[in-house]
Amino acid sequence: MNILLLGGGGREHALAWRLAQSPQRNRLYALPGSDGMRPLAACLPGDPCDPDAVAAEATRLGVDLVVIGPEAPLAAGVSDALRARGIPVFGPSRAAAQLETSKFYAKQFMQRHRIPTAGFALCDSLADAERALARFPAPVVLKADGLAAGKGVVVAATGAEARAALAELFSGRLAGDAGRRVVIEECLRGPELSLLALCDGVRAELLPPARDHKRAGEGDRGPNTGGMGAISEDALLPARLAAQIRHEIVEPVLAGMAEAGAPFQGVLYCGLMLTAAGPRVLEFNVRFGDPETQPLMLRAEGDLAAALAAAAQGRLQPGELRWSGEPAACVVLASEGYPGPYPRGRVIAGLEAVAAAGEAVVFHSGTRFVAPASEPGVGQWQTAGGRVLAVAARAPSLAGALARCYKAAAQIHFDGMHYRRDIGRVSAGA
Ligand code: AMP
Ligand code: GLY
Repeated sequence: MNILLLGGGGREHALAWRLAQSPQRNRLYALPGSDGMRPLAACLPGDPCDPDAVAAEATRLGVDLVVIGPEAPLAAGVSDALRARGIPVFGPSRAAAQLETSKFYAKQFMQRHRIPTAGFALCDSLADAERALARFPAPVVLKADGLAAGKGVVVAATGAEARAALAELFSGRLAGDAGRRVVIEECLRGPELSLLALCDGVRAELLPPARDHKRAGEGDRGPNTGGMGAISEDALLPARLAAQIRHEIVEPVLAGMAEAGAPFQGVLYCGLMLTAAGPRVLEFNVRFGDPETQPLMLRAEGDLAAALAAAAQGRLQPGELRWSGEPAACVVLASEGYPGPYPRGRVIAGLEAVAAAGEAVVFHSGTRFVAPASEPGVGQWQTAGGRVLAVAARAPSLAGALARCYKAAAQIHFDGMHYRRDIGRVSAGA
């Protein structure tokens, strides 16, 4: 199979790493890819969010499948452009992607289909929101309607904090235009869980459960980030709870989206809170999670390329993907200042030592390889993003996987590098 993968972050590096191991010996292209992905995929320049350009490139390359990593190309309608040209694409239509791109859409959809989620009010104006706030005792959660790169959610501890955050959201200062409509939500309690399902429009295959760690600081303190580390182990989700989530959440989403004329093909990412009253949806994403994908790919054992192609073509078979029973984890190494402004161009040392030890895999999220034109062989890795690397490992126990990750993290260095030391040891939200 010839596969074109869109995106260039740690999630896409992990997908490429796994796709490169499929038994069919695929030819992989990535647009734009990254320096870290170069050993696995031919990286092509271009804008992954330009539907016509991506479709033209996919046609020129004669690819059998396009796999869309991030949400932005989905929001831009890239999957629609590809489907219109008969190119199989793993990733939902722009209409189906509204489950992620509009929290208003997602909340109304869940209400219509009685999918369990936090109680809420949808507010179009600051005056509206201030009135609605009276119905929600603090703590209360405020969410920008649109895509906000992780900056659109505020958990306000007091009414005064909530009013201040509402003003910031509606002014556009907190999340730009995404915040000009706001969801006010009841604050739920419980451990969080990321449960991803491969969907072909009708059928769904649940992936093993994973848990992200969204806060920047240890003990789940500090600002929200894109994710500072993740674990995946079966013990996170007892079989009965998995069946309940499938029945109460995943299947109603598939049926409801089909009924709405926007059948869901791709990854349905359910961000859940496991409350005392049962699982509740915090958010849907319509793509693989980053950094959950990094440990998940370490556990994937079937033919990932075949499974994604089957989902794209509406012929997903149960058990198409197999998973190792061994837990896996990843720890994100971040730049100084992240999730705030951060420097770039810091030299990264130690990648060779980690590779030589062979116990952990390093996925590149924000790096570049800089080589002098005269001597392209002798360059150096530098930081180029907020989340720089994710060190990932699998082992017979979660503690063992984490130990491998932390050993690798200790071998890597760049100025200002920071990472959480408690990945897998706290249950976010609990
Ligand atoms: P989201 O982007 O919707 O997943 O929200 C980001 C984070 O905010 C989640 O991972 C939770 O930790 C927190 N959060 C979102 N919604 C709620 C809620 N209704 N109650 C408590 N915490 C929430
Ligand atoms: N790990 C959270 C996300 O991918 O949105």
